[in-house]
Amino acid sequence: LRPPEELYDRQRQLDPFDWYARMRRESPVRYDESRKMWDVFRYEDVDRVLSDYDAFSSDMRDAEAVSFDDDQAMRRTMINAEPPEHDRLRRFVDERFRPGTIRELQPRLEAFAAEFLDAVEDADRIDLVGDFAYPFPVTVIAELLGIPADRRDQFKSWSDALVASPTEETTAAMEKNERQRQRARREMAEYFGDLLDERADGDGDDLITLAATSDDLERDEKVGFCILLLIAGNITTTNLITNAVWCFDEHDVTDAVRTGEIDRKQAIEEVLRYRSPAQSIRRVATRDVELGGETIEAGELVTAWIGSANRDPDVFDAPEEFRPERSPNRHIAFGKGIHYCLGAPLARVEADIALDALLDRFDTIEPTDEPKSPLSTQLLHGLEALPCRVERAE
Ligand code: HEM
Repeated sequence: LRPPEELYDRQRQLDPFDWYARMRRESPVRYDESRKMWDVFRYEDVDRVLSDYDAFSSDMRDAEAVSFDDDQAMRRTMINAEPPEHDRLRRFVDERFRPGTIRELQPRLEAFAAEFLDAVEDADRIDLVGDFAYPFPVTVIAELLGIPADRRDQFKSWSDALVASPTEETTAAMEKNERQRQRARREMAEYFGDLLDERADGDGDDLITLAATSDDLERDEKVGFCILLLIAGNITTTNLITNAVWCFDEHDVTDAVRTGEIDRKQAIEEVLRYRSPAQSIRRVATRDVELGGETIEAGELVTAWIGSANRDPDVFDAPEEFRPERSPNRHIAFGKGIHYCLGAPLARVEADIALDALLDRFDTIEPTDEPKSPLSTQLLHGLEALPCRVERAE
């Protein structure tokens, strides 16, 4: 999970977009010798890598430098499977994430959002991430999975450990990073394994019971499913909410979104494009493939840069401008093809409820001038914290 050298710099992590633009122009499909990895930057090519699963597989179980030996569960989830296995692993849960099903959850989600804002009722300063954008989605996914509230704090350290990149390019830093990941995976597997056993004959409507009682899945696959949902549904949505407040402030549209002059849902789509929470996705070539004039050989790993594709001038007018009313907006922030994000309808509703609640509660919500600290991961784009000055609405 080592990021390219160009992204080691913190400032670059906050603003990788100039670098992407240069790469799209100069070397849109390039091989990075130090990571033994291809990088793909243009929309058309990223789209192809994400959707052509015959040529670019998500099943990196044999190609990965990292060892999955200790971790049977994560070997077997929909996100790293291909048809027909992929369809079996996704089908049993698909219906739970359709827009109609998600709409029914809306009142519960609104109640959670209100609860976290009540807790900072009298503050004149909040950390948007720690006080709201992190706990809200984690509580939602924990609720859907049916996880007791007292264990929810533990999730942050687990999911952080799984997506973190090493902060330095030293063997010691990489080994530590890998050890932390393995420990988190082991602890989560144990934790979910126990809950799945407890609910094997259950009749609850939570997702753990759905998995526990499924005849289509093996035990490791059930554990993998729980871990995947917990991670996938978590920090990504945190970043969407954070990046929205960041973008609205940066481009001075917060009030216009509050009053409805700018459509909130449409503005969220532009945040997804402009500061895509998931910046990159990996695949492995299944055979020799021509892409952008280069030949990617069978077995080689490929990073598809969603964050760059979403700024490609061949597809978007003035891509470096944040235009909250942009339409059409063909961003691929949720991926493409059969692995298109299962949780996209949920993430959209969560972000909409979160921003509605925030803008309704506060007349002012303004990031302070403190230097911003980017997340130390190449997979995600967002902030560790976002201190904001707030004033309550009367
Ligand atoms: C897949 C992004 C929220 C569950 C994906 C993929 C992307 C993505 C780019 C494609 C991965 C690939 O092609 O390899 C995002 C973003 C989110 C978000 C930006 C928030 C803003 C969620 C939520 C959930 C979720 C809330 C669940 C509760 C999943 C799952 C997959 C997935 C299960 C794998 C689907 C498959 O392989 O068929 N997501 N996601 N995501 N996402 Fe999300």
